[in-house]
Amino acid sequence: MKKNILIVPGDGIGQEVTAVGKRVLDTIADKFGHQFSYDEALIGHVAIEATGNPLPDESLAKMKQSDAVLFGAVGHPKYDNDPSAKVRPEQGLLKMRKELGLYANLRPIKLFDELLGASSIKPEILSGADILFFRELTGDIYFGEKGRENNGDTAYDMAKYSRFEVERIARKAFEAARTRRKKLCSVDKANVLETSRLWREVVQAVAKDYPDVEVEHQFVDATAMLLIKDPRRFDVVVTANLFGDILTDEASQIAGSMGMLASASIGDGTGVYEPIHGSAHDITGKGIANPLASILSAALLLDIAFNMKPESETVIRAVDKVLKSGYRTRDIADAQTEPGKILGTAAMGDEVVKHLN
Ligand code: IPM
Ligand code: MG
Repeated sequence: MKKNILIVPGDGIGQEVTAVGKRVLDTIADKFGHQFSYDEALIGHVAIEATGNPLPDESLAKMKQSDAVLFGAVGHPKYDNDPSAKVRPEQGLLKMRKELGLYANLRPIKLFDELLGASSIKPEILSGADILFFRELTGDIYFGEKGRENNGDTAYDMAKYSRFEVERIARKAFEAARTRRKKLCSVDKANVLETSRLWREVVQAVAKDYPDVEVEHQFVDATAMLLIKDPRRFDVVVTANLFGDILTDEASQIAGSMGMLASASIGDGTGVYEPIHGSAHDITGKGIANPLASILSAALLLDIAFNMKPESETVIRAVDKVLKSGYRTRDIADAQTEPGKILGTAAMGDEVVKHLN
């Protein structure tokens, strides 16, 4: 098959890990006789430096024309402590999500058995946990009207959802639940928020079309607690943009490290595949970042964007074998890891590539 893949590394360790994800895609293309062609585009801080714009029109046009985007991360510490900055790297990411209509962010949380000891949660609580998050990605407080009043002394961000936005993400989540353990947990704050009451009303209505799926509604504060207390009770979780952002960082600890988690952002056009971790400037340029989230994002890309299931499974199996052989990046190493098996970013990529068979 011929496919065009756009590589968008972005900022910080995004550059390092995405190079490894691309290498894995390249190796898969060779092995399975596909022709993948690549182009690159700028986003985030690197795009601001080069053009003044966190998402240049040229980058957006390339995204729309590609068959899939392999994405890195955006962000730079210089903006984090400068609340007055008008142009910020994250604006590029949010604009990309909106412009490409990427309303569903899938974040699978699954622990590789070998990493049971890498999490700070007890192995007996974690073992067997397997959760698929559907985070709504183009609405909510992220995209509502925001501003200042009262001479800048008062600020507001409006949270807004429309029925169709809740319905389309709910349907995607129900469809996925059907292919899994047939359990769906919808997370909201309907005891306080009007957007959450609409959310719950719509999910209840959509549920009528999926009588085979068991539905539970939870308040987000309870979910935050139950994820740590009993992660195995969850199968598919569907939630709003802000709650999903927070809960998936929390849930990453179920998988041992943020460095392990991949995500797919999909809508009606080109999808974007990216690690859930950020640009991590504290370790940028040191060659120690964990590339497995980018590699697993490449696996999601193969599966979801190109419908290449065997290719995708080959990648996941390779990661599993490498972990079984005892290799770790620093973030997932534990007391049992042999010091000689702690690898940097490129060396971990080499190991995975070696096992792609
Ligand atoms: C994520 C990130 C982004 C978000 C940031 C970088 C704007 O945390 O993808 O989870 O909040 O959505
Ligand atoms: Mg986040």
